[in-house]
Amino acid sequence: MPHAPLAARATEPTAFAHLRPALQSMELQKIGAVARLGLEDPEVVPLWFGESDLNTPKFIKDAAVEALAQNKTRYVSARGVSQLRDALRRYTHRVYDLELDPNRVTVCGSGMTAIMIAFQCCVNNGDNVVIPVPVWPNALHSVEVMGGEPRLVRLDDTAEGWQLDLDKLFDAVDERTAAIFLASPGNPTGWVMPADQQRAVLAFARERGIWVIADEVYHRLVFDGAKAAPSFLSIAEPEDPVLVVNTFSKSWAMTGWRLGWMVHPPSLVEVIGDLSAYNNTGATAFVQWAGIAALEQGEDFVRHMISYSRTGRQIVLDAVAGFDRIHLTPPDGAFYAFLRVDGMTDSLRFAQNLVLEHKVGFAPGAAFGPGNENYLRLCFACAPERLHLAFERLQRALG
Ligand SMILES: Cc1ncc(COP(=O)(O)O)c(C=O)c1O
Repeated sequence: MPHAPLAARATEPTAFAHLRPALQSMELQKIGAVARLGLEDPEVVPLWFGESDLNTPKFIKDAAVEALAQNKTRYVSARGVSQLRDALRRYTHRVYDLELDPNRVTVCGSGMTAIMIAFQCCVNNGDNVVIPVPVWPNALHSVEVMGGEPRLVRLDDTAEGWQLDLDKLFDAVDERTAAIFLASPGNPTGWVMPADQQRAVLAFARERGIWVIADEVYHRLVFDGAKAAPSFLSIAEPEDPVLVVNTFSKSWAMTGWRLGWMVHPPSLVEVIGDLSAYNNTGATAFVQWAGIAALEQGEDFVRHMISYSRTGRQIVLDAVAGFDRIHLTPPDGAFYAFLRVDGMTDSLRFAQNLVLEHKVGFAPGAAFGPGNENYLRLCFACAPERLHLAFERLQRALG
């Protein structure tokens, strides 16, 4: 359904007549609507958010403490301290074997901030952004915040895994399309975009003069043994209309630290630096030193995160095999299982009931764009015993 707009979105009309219409009609966050029912209940097994239950490793915390002791507590460049941008250049070389001009790197307050900055760069009121779904809801809603329309193209759930039909993607692009947004590895599906598809999208974007926004926050979390998922960094020229978004949140278990980065054309250095300033005056100073430690000393931890996620993935695949009503297309990347539950028609109510009645927290499929009412998402980068308990409880709920 390439041209399907998001369904009527107002769940609770706001009382504020002066609020921008784009915000008045924006739907409430559905993952939050489930999580708030159980966040403070210690009996609930919480698998709703996009984070591992592993703690940030000590060497990263130590680097932050040390930076605090050295009073790295003041304003710094809104583009990030040069030491971190240089560490990102070295990291990119290690992971992708390519030379990256550190001037093309802007450190910002999170992956989310990088996405917002990307849309601020390219979406005018009334423009659309073409996005494969299911997708992380914040990507859809940040287009709406800009007054744009998320234009959705459904990934196909096939026996060979989730797949993107490029004809459908390109057909969805029209003269009001500002960008194609691609999250690979994807949340919630674990879809990984192959390099040949990336090349085709890049050629299309060049020809049509539109942006590619590549969300690569799960770049290290792939299960085929590769060092990282295919990246637009490996194929784009510096001045291509490509913005690559990344974060420390996922690979280094740093979700609460709020630190991300983006790689952009050199000609956008000034404007992206200014946008980083206008969003949050850049990332927190001492957190950036923790980021350097993550990049420079974090490879063992990243390997651990991958094997921990791989174990969790297998537990979920085995558990799902025992359910008649549940189907799971094995994810190739990221750390989510997107379960299709046959017979479930209202994922939000179902997920809320799971929390209240059965003490297990999944994210409702409906949060990830239309057409997902019969899905639930869980994060499997969690301890085996938690995952086993979650499936026992789900079993009880399904009867
Ligand atoms: C696909 C995707 N992109 C970006 C982000 C943003 O991550 P953060 O803002 O924690 O850096 C997330 C977080 O869940 C995500 O799933």
